[in-house]
Amino acid sequence: MDSRAIGVFDSGLGGLTAVSALRELLPGEDVVYFGDTGRVPYGTRSAETIFRYASQDVRFLLSHELKCIVVACGTVSSVALPRLLEMTDIPILGVIEPAVRAAVRATKNGRIGVVGTSATIRSGTYREGLLAANPGLEIISKPCPLLVPLVEDGRFSEGCTVTELLVEEYVSPLLKQNIDTLILGCTHYPLLTGIFSKLCGPDVALINPGYEAVVSLRELLSENDALRGGGPACGEHYYVSDSEQQFLQYAEMFLRGPVHGQVQRIDIENY
Ligand code: DGL
Repeated sequence: MDSRAIGVFDSGLGGLTAVSALRELLPGEDVVYFGDTGRVPYGTRSAETIFRYASQDVRFLLSHELKCIVVACGTVSSVALPRLLEMTDIPILGVIEPAVRAAVRATKNGRIGVVGTSATIRSGTYREGLLAANPGLEIISKPCPLLVPLVEDGRFSEGCTVTELLVEEYVSPLLKQNIDTLILGCTHYPLLTGIFSKLCGPDVALINPGYEAVVSLRELLSENDALRGGGPACGEHYYVSDSEQQFLQYAEMFLRGPVHGQVQRIDIENY
């Protein structure tokens, strides 16, 4: 048993979709979340900048007593994970490997679509991972740079015309190529599941990498006998690098529930 908390970070609010999965799959665990809301988005930046930001995020989280860290950001997981692993002995889990495993399990025709930020798609990490798992797969990738700003602006519900039009513009070419599985390779996109599902229909499996990462984490903690033991839980603690109020405005939608615990602003440049 290990009663230390699970650290989670993202460039902003998207990683809260992984916290929502933690609440569902590992409800007894304490969580320390950092959202770099002052520097979001990461997905339009260079690999070097993404690594610099992500290493500060990890250093901040490591100032807490943690048993592991979940990189709940598709961009950081694609671009910076191997270098982040060198920073600590505690396990750091990205979202790519778990999503790759789920997609390989889900596909029947071997044609997998991947959508994500420009940095994620440019990195080729999903393609590499999928082809390493099965060299016979056909991978069709598409950067969707305009989706994150729309989600951050609260425009993610079905019926939101501008978002529906954009998702159609981005995803139709993949559907024309007969994909039967689509990796939503950015932690903001699960909020668009309704819109993606409506467009893709029931025959395309949608993979949520944040959720799959938590499934993998549960396996890892239980194999290592590191699930949380008894004693009073501290619950969830949220840290952001910009306004707490702005975070609270949309956090509940990403969490699909109320924000439990404190929200505190920190200066990430100190780490
Ligand atoms: N959370 C990021 C990701 O999953 C998207 C937002 C950003 O560009 O920073 O890729």
